[in-house]
Amino acid sequence: MFIDCHCHILPQIDDGSESTEMSLQMIALQHQQGVERIIATPHFYAHREKSVSHYLEKRQNAFQKVMSANPAVSDIRLGAEVAVEHGLSQLPDIEKLAFQGTKLFLFEFPYSVFNQRYIEEIYNICNDYGFTPVIAHLHRYLEYYTKSEMQKVLEMDAIFQFNNEAFGNFRERSFCKKILKQGYRVIFGSDAHNLTSRKPNFDLLARKAKPEWIENANQILRISG
Ligand SMILES: [Fe+2]
Repeated sequence: MFIDCHCHILPQIDDGSESTEMSLQMIALQHQQGVERIIATPHFYAHREKSVSHYLEKRQNAFQKVMSANPAVSDIRLGAEVAVEHGLSQLPDIEKLAFQGTKLFLFEFPYSVFNQRYIEEIYNICNDYGFTPVIAHLHRYLEYYTKSEMQKVLEMDAIFQFNNEAFGNFRERSFCKKILKQGYRVIFGSDAHNLTSRKPNFDLLARKAKPEWIENANQILRISG
């Protein structure tokens, strides 16, 4: 079984699902692919939101629309994919964006050159609240970070999330295998946004990943609630 810990299946809250109907179809596809638990992680960009509480209200409304339509996967929990930006750690209520009922917090680094201040923002939040950071789709930063910068990220006390799509790409798959071999904590997600270009893709992970990697990922997510 799979836990999809990163996806944009809630309707009309970000650039993911465009309607409740689309959400239900995405969830049905996740179910067909063996996903038994979903953590819905709509984007959170501090500079675009009025406040954390306003975002949480929108997220709750979107969640309720899905849950009242009897989705194919009933175990849906709430999280957020929080973009790292300057001053994030000072935002009131930031701690409320952790994965519901856990000490895990999903961070998305900007798609730009490495900046040590991003790591500091993450630690400021995690140290204050005893969270473990989850770094979203680490493989995407291979094109932005040098080897030594990537090493700095890997040295964080963090869990590293890979999108299943990394397994369809030789370089990204090799990177993932390398860090798994080195004993880093790795979890997987679809990062699904729709039913076409970025659809649920645990079928790909099922074909390409070793069962023990998936079991370890599930273990990490279960231990964390
Ligand atoms: Fe995402």
